[in-house]
Amino acid sequence: MSSPRIININDLRRVAQRRLPRVVFDYLEGGAENEITLQDNVHAFQQVTFRPRQAVHVEAVDLRTCVLEQQLSMPVILAPVGYSRLMHPDGEIAAARAAHEAGTAFVLSTISGHKLEALRAASDGLLWYQLYLLGGREAAESTIERARRAGFSVLVITVDTPVAGNRERDPRNGMRELLSGTLLEKIRFAPQILKHPRWLISFLLDGCVPKLENVVVPGKGPLAMTDVAAALSSSIVQWDDLAWIRRCWLGPIVVKGILTAEDARRAVDHGAAAIVVSNHGGRQLDGVPASLRALPEIYAAVGKETEILMDGGIRRGSDIVKALCLGARAVLIGRAYAYGLAAYGKVGVERALEILRDDLRRTLTLLGCSSADQLNPSFVNLSRDFIPSLGSHSNP
Ligand code: FNR
Repeated sequence: MSSPRIININDLRRVAQRRLPRVVFDYLEGGAENEITLQDNVHAFQQVTFRPRQAVHVEAVDLRTCVLEQQLSMPVILAPVGYSRLMHPDGEIAAARAAHEAGTAFVLSTISGHKLEALRAASDGLLWYQLYLLGGREAAESTIERARRAGFSVLVITVDTPVAGNRERDPRNGMRELLSGTLLEKIRFAPQILKHPRWLISFLLDGCVPKLENVVVPGKGPLAMTDVAAALSSSIVQWDDLAWIRRCWLGPIVVKGILTAEDARRAVDHGAAAIVVSNHGGRQLDGVPASLRALPEIYAAVGKETEILMDGGIRRGSDIVKALCLGARAVLIGRAYAYGLAAYGKVGVERALEILRDDLRRTLTLLGCSSADQLNPSFVNLSRDFIPSLGSHSNP
């Protein structure tokens, strides 16, 4: 993309906001309740400052990293983002292709309007599948089998969503009505939609709200998008579930949504090959700390036994560098690429990844560090109030 206006991720965010009706933009942008955790995800990065090594000639920067024995061209993975097809009709397919071309992995959400087989047909890249137990065990088992056959290489189990978070923007803007309402109910929210005719046309041409093609409920077929909230609360992932999931899926399992050393230990003990330190982008329990703040505690507890990934609040390459210094092997990005997707489809995701890659190279050069793998805590200072509650994790 050659637009001189798109210099950073915030520029993509601005275009996404212009292009999407408020109901869809706010779904992408928003967090739970007071959005304290959402804001803290970004703020925490500002409380970490760099300790550069000056007068070092870094000839070439090596951003490659290895996650679960998979080579990535940079330590950035595309996180599962539900309802991506509402942001752009090409949704997850566009994002997966952009990830492949950038040499990294894409995680497909259970809440996807595209069939997982369609992603595989569109891309030879690294595909991971994020599992919610929507529709029950039988539905999950058949999806796991489909993912295996389609060559998905990693299963990600999200454990922070026993119920959908209270994202107050959604009911205010009419998210439920958009997904399922009668014509009469929809009309109330029509003005904000009609202000975005290009989005509306592409939404109509795409057949409006898709079904969840990867959650096929026995005897009923694909789950409707509208049934997600109810299905989430009746299919809560518990630690014991990892045992039967393990029997269905022989590849690596990643547990996503860990925020304490104790849960990190449980995940490792239950066979997680990697964990994602994550608060779901501030969309679930408001009031938990930024994922970055939880990272040192978790790294100290299980860093030698498992691979640690993190997500939440990453908007610049320098954020990624800080997360790597504090123990992450790689990060997941959610909104940073979803803004690009909403703004320009695949090209926008490509641009988001290009921005982050350029940022990473420049930041490492300025730090006097030639390789992402060499980053460690000696490259950063933490402000006094960075760690939220030292010692609060002593109770098992
Ligand atoms: C998400 N996230 C998410 N996570 C998950 O495990 N399954 C899902 O279906 C979704 N859906 C989803 C939708 C939207 C619109 C967003 C923004 C996020 C959480 C996501 O994987 C990741 O944890 C966060 O997005 C990371 O925070 P940032 O990068 O968005 O700040």
